[in-house]
Amino acid sequence: LHVAVLMGGLSSEREVSLSSGKGCADALEGQVARVSRVDAGRDLAQVLAELKPDVVFNALHGEWGEDGCVQGVLETLAIPYTHSGVLSSALAMDKDKSKAVLKAAGVVVPGGGLFDRMAVARSHVIPPPYVVKPNAEGSSVGVYVVMPGDAPCAATGEGSWTYGELVMVEPFVAGKELAVTVLGEKSGPRALTVTDITPKKGFYDYEAKYAPGGSSHVLPAELPPHIFERALRESELAHTAMGCRGVSRSDFRYDDLNDVLVLLEVNTQPGMTPTSLSPEQAAYVGMDYKDLVRWMVEDASC
Ligand code: DAL
Ligand code: MG
Repeated sequence: LHVAVLMGGLSSEREVSLSSGKGCADALEGQVARVSRVDAGRDLAQVLAELKPDVVFNALHGEWGEDGCVQGVLETLAIPYTHSGVLSSALAMDKDKSKAVLKAAGVVVPGGGLFDRMAVARSHVIPPPYVVKPNAEGSSVGVYVVMPGDAPCAATGEGSWTYGELVMVEPFVAGKELAVTVLGEKSGPRALTVTDITPKKGFYDYEAKYAPGGSSHVLPAELPPHIFERALRESELAHTAMGCRGVSRSDFRYDDLNDVLVLLEVNTQPGMTPTSLSPEQAAYVGMDYKDLVRWMVEDASC
């Protein structure tokens, strides 16, 4: 089997993807006949048409690689690929539209909504504390937490704000950051376990995600059993409602004082870096990194 691993790409998560891609390509060496490492650029269609891989391992994150665009190229070239297809990739990348679909499926999601970026920079569009985030980015790029007493989020009003005219503003849910990885097995989606994430400082931002020791992970999370169970079931429900394929990861906040669990988003291209959550959860259920990557390739090929 010849597998082309797509990595890098054009998004703000390029470095994260290079790390995910290296991990996945290294893990495939020796497990398949040939591994091609492809830094995905504008000439991707030509490169793949020449390489003629049997399967593409998509290790891209963010704009273009995670939002249905690359998936559309792969559909057009008729090359099987890992992770979700065109529609669910595009849907999951749009936080606002995802919330509508998840809510309709019975999943509890945060309130708030999309606001004009200038209005968000000028005034508190909802009462603090709240979170300001791009509607379609990953890895906490461009995310700000506004606490009571803070000024509005000036960043969204600056010329350097490149994340769209509408920004997502959601009430801040105090408490714990949780994540659940789901494998879309043939018999149905299977949630692996729940991880409780504690950033070393502040919130689970880019640095907390990728700096070694930036955050500590407890798995399985110590939670009231009904919350643990709900996080598993809602991740599976979300995977199905969004039409995901292969691996997905749902991220939650749990307000332990008020016993409120909300699903923040579904990631269709979960990170595969040394500090990422999904490989750790797979290891917990007895699949090491190589097993997980092989499972994804097998899932894509049949
Ligand atoms: N967007 C990063 C890669 C993640 O969800 O893991
Ligand atoms: Mg994300």
